[in-house]
Amino acid sequence: MSYELGDVYKIPLEDGYADLTCCRTLLMHLTEPLKAVKEMARVTRTGGSVVALEGGKMGAFYDPNDEEYSMLAERAYETWVNGIRKLEGKEFKIGEKLPGIFQKAGLSGIKAEV
Ligand SMILES: C[S@@+](CC[C@H](N)C(=O)[O-])C[C@H]1O[C@@H](n2cnc3c(N)ncnc32)[C@H](O)[C@@H]1O
Repeated sequence: MSYELGDVYKIPLEDGYADLTCCRTLLMHLTEPLKAVKEMARVTRTGGSVVALEGGKMGAFYDPNDEEYSMLAERAYETWVNGIRKLEGKEFKIGEKLPGIFQKAGLSGIKAEV
């Protein structure tokens, strides 16, 4: 096994090199996640898998015994996510958007799990 450091926007691998391309909490930190997924798709062979494990709405806390707390927690989370979007151009709540991003990147057989 070997490791190589690289930029996800320009992965140092040839087209169709990998059976599986996977990232975790990376796309949420990028200003161009679609560009990154397209690059992941490029280095993955036809019939291979591109996988992303990212955050989404689950980042908000929910306490079924405390509706007020849950509502405040969700509002605080939304405010934080909106601030990062505005100040840094990043989508921290990218999870829900991944199926659409994967589709736009030309991928098929898309599955999403929570
Ligand atoms: C929240 S950390 C996640 C690290 C690791 N994947 C994990 O799950 O523990 C985000 C990582 O994305 C990396 N990163 C940010 N921009 C990148 C880029 N353009 N290409 C490759 N990695 C990048 C950062 O260096 C950082 O290590």
